[in-house]
Formats: sequence, structure tokens, C-alpha cells
Amino acid sequence: MATTLTAAAPPRLSHATVTTPVVLVVLHPKGGVGRSTTVWQLGAELALRGKCVRIEDLDQGAHLSRTFNQYPLGLERLQLGSTNHPASVDLVLLDTAPEAQRERAIEVLRRADWALVPVKGPEASSVQALPMLMDWIAEARHARVLGFLPTMYKPRRAETRYWLAELQAFAAEYDARVLAPIGDIASVAAWRLDGHPYAQLAEEVLRAIEHH
Ligand SMILES: Nc1ncnc2c1ncn2[C@@H]1O[C@H](COP(=O)(O)OP(=O)(O)OP(=O)(O)O)[C@@H](O)[C@H]1O
Ligand SMILES: [Mg+2]
Repeated sequence: MATTLTAAAPPRLSHATVTTPVVLVVLHPKGGVGRSTTVWQLGAELALRGKCVRIEDLDQGAHLSRTFNQYPLGLERLQLGSTNHPASVDLVLLDTAPEAQRERAIEVLRRADWALVPVKGPEASSVQALPMLMDWIAEARHARVLGFLPTMYKPRRAETRYWLAELQAFAAEYDARVLAPIGDIASVAAWRLDGHPYAQLAEEVLRAIEHH
């Protein structure tokens, strides 16, 4: 049967169904720097701000997937899924395994629009691994660096000021930013949103994706 063309406007699709999602990868070559926590907390904060968010667990360890199911937040806009997930979203956050493999890192960096780098501080080895990561980001020529995010941050430790200055100097070399640190907080470790320590980061992410 022939389709009848009418002057009526097509039904309005919701924002989430018509746009290509922005993809943000959270990565760092080392383990235990706060990647999964960042994806979970940031995903929740973005969902609380009205964004439809899919978090993807690309780590075989599946810590994020276990956490997502173990500590349900009941946020309708936050889902755990994979690329094959049928529902469309505004944002995809990728959690990654500790990555010392150049090819795998570059592959995920080519999928992403933005890279967010959690840096556990003050921990010297977290900074020492960064030049390799920045080489991969340059090689992938795709994801932009949203910034370095100090995690588990302990401002009272004597070495912290020196550590932060070192990270800031490193970031400046790459024209990148050091974001407001996430403190070493028991509620974060317990997968709770108390005090919303990732709220400021969520605002940064929204600003970044809306202005570029
Ligand atoms: N801001 C924080 N304050 C206190 N503890 C934290 C904070 N962020 C993360 N942690 C804890 O530190 C540990 C490592 O964090 P997380 O699992 O997020 O790191 P990861 O980089 O994903 O590690 P993995 O290499 O195991 O994937 C976890 O036990 C987590 O609960
Ligand atoms: Mg993890």
C-alpha cells in the first residue's frame, strides 16, 4: 500500500532516541586507581541530572557489574549494558581493566569521544604510568582528555602537595586539566552517594560535552 504524505509533522522522538551517545572512557594503565568507582558514581550523578546513561563494564574482573547489582540505586536513567543493548542513551561510560596493552588501549580510545584519567594520590606510580597512556591517546587520535582526576586523595599527607604539583606540571605539558580531587571517603568505598562527592565532576562533564 502506498504511503500517504501529509503535512503533519512527524511524531517527536525523545532526545535520547535521536542522538548518538557521547562516549567517555575511564582508563589508567594501573589497577586500583578508582576507575570502577568513578564510572559508578559519575554515572549516577549524570542520571540524577536527567541524562540517560549506560555504563559498560569492559573489565573481565566484572567488579562494576557485581557492584551495580549488589548496590542497586534504583535510578531509571542509569543502566548497565553493552554495545548491543537496545535502548538508546545520551551518554556511555566505559569502565576498563588495568591496561598495559597498547593495542587494546588504542581500540577503546578510538571508541571514545572523551577520556577521563583517575590518578590515585598521592601515589607516585599512578603518575609514572601516565606518559605511556598519553602516548596511546595521541596515537589513537580520537578521544579528547577531559582531565586527570585525583582519587582517594589525602590532603593532609606530607607528600600530597608535592604529588599534586607534579601532576599539575605533567598535565600542563599536555594542555590538560587536573580536576577537583575526590577525597578518600568511606562512603565512596561503600558504594554510597552520601555527600555526592562526584557532583562537581558531573557538572564538568556536562559542560565539556555541551561545549564541544
Ligand atoms: N574516593 C575513594 N575513597 C575511598 N575509597 C575509594 C575511593 N575510590 C575508590 N575507592 C576504593 O578503592 C578500591 C579501588 O577502587 P576501584 O575498584 O574503583 O578501582 P579500579 O581502578 O576500578 O580497580 P581495578 O583495577 O580493581 O579495576 C576499591 O576498594 C574502592 O572501593
Ligand atoms: Mg575496576
